[in-house]
Amino acid sequence: MTARESDVNPFLQGNFAPWRLEGTADDVEVIGAIPRELNGTFYRNGSNPAYEPRGRYHWFDGDGMIHAITLRDGRAAYRNRYVQSDGLKEERAAGQALYPGLLDISPTEAPRFKVTGNTNIVHHAGRLLALVEAALPTEMQAGTLETLGLYDFGGKLFGPMTAHPKLDPETGEMLFFGYSPFPPYLQYHVADRSGALVRSEVIDVAWPSMMHDFAVTRDHVIFLLCPIVFSVENLQRGGQLFSWEPERGTRLGVMPRSGGNADVRWFDTDPCYVFHPMNAYDDGDAIVLDVSRYSSLRFMNPEAARDPSMTEDAGARLHRWRIDRRGGGIRSTPLDDVTGEFPRVDERLVGRKHRFGYLAASTPEDLQGKEPVWSSIKKYDLERGTSTTRRLGAGNGASEPLFVPRNDAAGEDDGYVLALVYDHARHGSDFYILDAQDIAGEPIAQIRIPNRVPYGFHGNWVPAT
Ligand SMILES: [Fe+2]
Repeated sequence: MTARESDVNPFLQGNFAPWRLEGTADDVEVIGAIPRELNGTFYRNGSNPAYEPRGRYHWFDGDGMIHAITLRDGRAAYRNRYVQSDGLKEERAAGQALYPGLLDISPTEAPRFKVTGNTNIVHHAGRLLALVEAALPTEMQAGTLETLGLYDFGGKLFGPMTAHPKLDPETGEMLFFGYSPFPPYLQYHVADRSGALVRSEVIDVAWPSMMHDFAVTRDHVIFLLCPIVFSVENLQRGGQLFSWEPERGTRLGVMPRSGGNADVRWFDTDPCYVFHPMNAYDDGDAIVLDVSRYSSLRFMNPEAARDPSMTEDAGARLHRWRIDRRGGGIRSTPLDDVTGEFPRVDERLVGRKHRFGYLAASTPEDLQGKEPVWSSIKKYDLERGTSTTRRLGAGNGASEPLFVPRNDAAGEDDGYVLALVYDHARHGSDFYILDAQDIAGEPIAQIRIPNRVPYGFHGNWVPAT
């Protein structure tokens, strides 16, 4: 009998292994005390394959599963549901996986993609949207987490949507883009405060690329064109759909929000890959953009995906770009030599100057499992150039940390950092509520999730109304 993918692929093992039960738990056990001002729901999305993969598995392939932790009056409830995509329904009917993963896309068959909706979950204009790399959003019912189906902005969105829209804290707009391996390679869209899609524009790019995220400021949009190139030729030669071509360098496209495609200016920097910016802001004639920067993209390589060490060189590090719009250059400054991913800032400062940022960082000395994990939560004070790390303990791992202010008027780091944490010894999961001004201290509350929550991607907080 040949080995199952689950037996050999670290992204299907330890806390990457899928959790396949869906459930609801009221009044979950809490260690400590949940702050009473935290009233709302933390939604977290992640990849959770419902069936044993039919071929090679990449972490980005799994079906979406939403985990919702609702906090009310100091108590916590938990619910999890799959994103019931049409592809998953088809697989349920067949009783097995039917779709190829990213690493097994055939050069000869027409590609079949499942819109897993597995990457992010955002709330805008009363809609809860599960998002994936390059497809339509899947609308979910808040509360029940029932899947309502694909959402195309009332028939107005033609083309895919990124998993990383930006919500402008002043205008209430949702700014986003969509990319495609086929023309048009890139489009930019704006939904207004009420959720109406009011703008769609094709943006010219030098090559078709996997553009996972972007950045916005109060006045600009920044597209990140990295040298990961869609290459059907490469696929037909037996290679991957994505090819890493560092000789192209990386280009940052700056577009005034009041302008359009004709106004995009491209600025060159060293080859790298960025999944996630932390934030960006205007600073006179410059734009400051903080990102988690990979010097190359081994992460997309199937062999690297099987490499349990996830070596330091393969990781991303916090990095600052200062784009001089007048002079034309980019000043590039590494901010850390420790690797970290899933950077976030106070959502009230998206596109505005931030002092503090948070991410999931690696602490190699705590790695005891064989799967690659981010084993600490780190807070940066970018004004002082300092950082604070909360280590989570041997074998434990962090998800993306999310800052939630104590109240609407609270200062930038006056609030809480929320994160799902894997407890290796218990093979279970806790939801941490940390004091953002003392993240190295003991959690204010530790909510014991009744099932294990596999390592996933992104989450957001939706305050109770
Ligand atoms: Fe992402």
